[in-house]
Amino acid sequence: MVAKVITFGISKGGCSKTTSSGITAYLLSQEHKVLCLDMDGQGNLTSFLTGEFDICGVYEGKTTLEAIMDEDVSSYIVQITDNLHLVPSNDYLASLPRRMFEEKKGTSALSKALAPVLNQYDYIIIDTPPALSEHTILSLSASDSVVVMFDGSQFCYYAIDKFLEICEAAKQKGNSKLSVAGILFSLIDIRAKENKDMIEVIDEEYSTLRFNTIIRRKATTRRLGIYGFFDNPELKDALENYIPFVKELKERVAKGQNSKEETTSRA
Ligand SMILES: Nc1ncnc2c1ncn2[C@@H]1O[C@H](COP(=O)(O)OP(=O)(O)OP(=O)(O)O)[C@@H](O)[C@H]1O
Ligand SMILES: [Mg+2]
Repeated sequence: MVAKVITFGISKGGCSKTTSSGITAYLLSQEHKVLCLDMDGQGNLTSFLTGEFDICGVYEGKTTLEAIMDEDVSSYIVQITDNLHLVPSNDYLASLPRRMFEEKKGTSALSKALAPVLNQYDYIIIDTPPALSEHTILSLSASDSVVVMFDGSQFCYYAIDKFLEICEAAKQKGNSKLSVAGILFSLIDIRAKENKDMIEVIDEEYSTLRFNTIIRRKATTRRLGIYGFFDNPELKDALENYIPFVKELKERVAKGQNSKEETTSRA
C-alpha cells in the first residue's frame, strides 16, 4: 500500500476543517490504516483525537514541527487506536517559517518527512490552519488530494478562489499529482435561503467540484469536541452526515480527477 495524502483546508477560520478531517480520519480508520497530521498550531485536531488539551506540556518537542525538521515523522507518531495514528501539534508550530528559513528547508519538507511511512498507511489526513501560510503550502505540496471546506458564508466564498490558486501553485511548483477532490459544504442549515442560493452559485461556478453530500449543522457533531469518539452515546448521530461524504471522498481520491481548468477556473 501507498498512502493517499488528503489535506483539508480553506483560508477562512471556523469552517469545520478540524471537525471534518478528524471525523473523516475516524471513519476511514474503521476499515483502513490512517495517519492524521496536525499542521495547525492551535492543535485542535490533536485535542479532538486524544482528548488532551495540555498540548504544550504533553507534546513538547514531539510534534509535526520536529518531524518536519527531522524529515521523518516516524518517531513522532502517537497511537489513538490500532488503525488510527496521529502526529500531534502545539503552539510552537508557529515557528515553522523561521525554522524553515534557518535550516534552509524547502516546500517539499513535509513530503520528505512523510516518505518513510507512506507504505504503512492507506490514508494520511492533514488538518491545516485558516491561513495561506507555510503550514498550508507544505501540506498541499505533500498531498494527492485536497478537500476545500466551505461554510456557505460570503466571507468563505471569497476565500475559495484564493485557496484554489494556492493549490494550483503547489501543483505547478513540484507537486504535479495534486488534485482538488472537491468543495465540501459544512455547518449548513439547509432551510436558510442563503445556503440554498450558495449551493446554486457554487454549482454554476465550479461545475463538478461540489461534493453531493452536504454536512448539516448538528448539535451532536459539535459536542464531539467535548465527548470525543470513544464511549460517546451520541457518536452514531454525530457521524451520520459524514458517512456518505467519506464514500464520495474515497471514490474521488481513487480517481484523482480534476483537470487544471476544473480546479482553477470558474465556468
Ligand atoms: N457539522 C457541524 N455541526 C455543528 N457544529 C460543527 C459542525 N462542524 C463543526 N462544528 C463546530 O464549529 C466550530 C468550528 O469547527 P472547527 O474547529 O472544526 O473549524 P476549523 O475550520 O477547523 O476552525 P479553524 O479555522 O480555527 O481551524 C467548532 O466549535 C465545531 O465544534
Ligand atoms: Mg481547525
